[in-house]
Amino acid sequence: MLRIVVLVSGGGTNLQAVIDAVDAGRITNTEIVGVISNNKSAYALTRAKRHKIPSKCISPKDFETREEFNRVFLEKIRELHPDLIVLAGFLVVIPESMVQEYRNRIINIHPSLIPSFCGTGYYGLKVHEAALARGVKLTGATVHFVDEGTDTGPILLQKAVEVKEGDTPEILQRRVMEEAEWKILPQAIDLIANGKVRVANGAAMIEKEIN
Ligand code: GRF
Repeated sequence: MLRIVVLVSGGGTNLQAVIDAVDAGRITNTEIVGVISNNKSAYALTRAKRHKIPSKCISPKDFETREEFNRVFLEKIRELHPDLIVLAGFLVVIPESMVQEYRNRIINIHPSLIPSFCGTGYYGLKVHEAALARGVKLTGATVHFVDEGTDTGPILLQKAVEVKEGDTPEILQRRVMEEAEWKILPQAIDLIANGKVRVANGAAMIEKEIN
């Protein structure tokens, strides 16, 4: 059983997609052992409680220094003994010490086709605003492993989504979630849980089944 901890900040629709996929057997060999939010009022915490998943809130705002937050944050993660940490709309920068300790064991979902519209400042609706401003015809989502940079780690899965005439950032965000994020995040977890992913030399590889 792969023990996963899901880190969230907001609505938690990606968390819900993971919960639903576990329940439906689309993710196998996986147990969600905890949900951590940096935001007390995140609806994601309600989703966790409803599914009886242990949840906690830990916010940098409640600590005098970032170092102190990072230390306690890492302790809380360690207590859960995760095999994989899943960032599902988590808006706090992952401490370098955590990246090192959980090397190739942290994944993130980003709502664009990396390397487009990613890096510092590209989060939430800003990503979709930028895609519309540039006039791209295709956007999408990416699941990648987390390294010391922002959205720079090895790419595991990507799925393209069409941009349509008349799209607003909100409409595009919703389409990217429905058609890409809610599919590739559960798929990525299932692949990892079933030993199908290898990361070497900065690249993630998926073992294909031979029929
Ligand atoms: C998603 O678009 C995710 O890709 C981004 O933040 C959003 C979180 O949505 N990083 P939710 O909390 O999963 O509903």
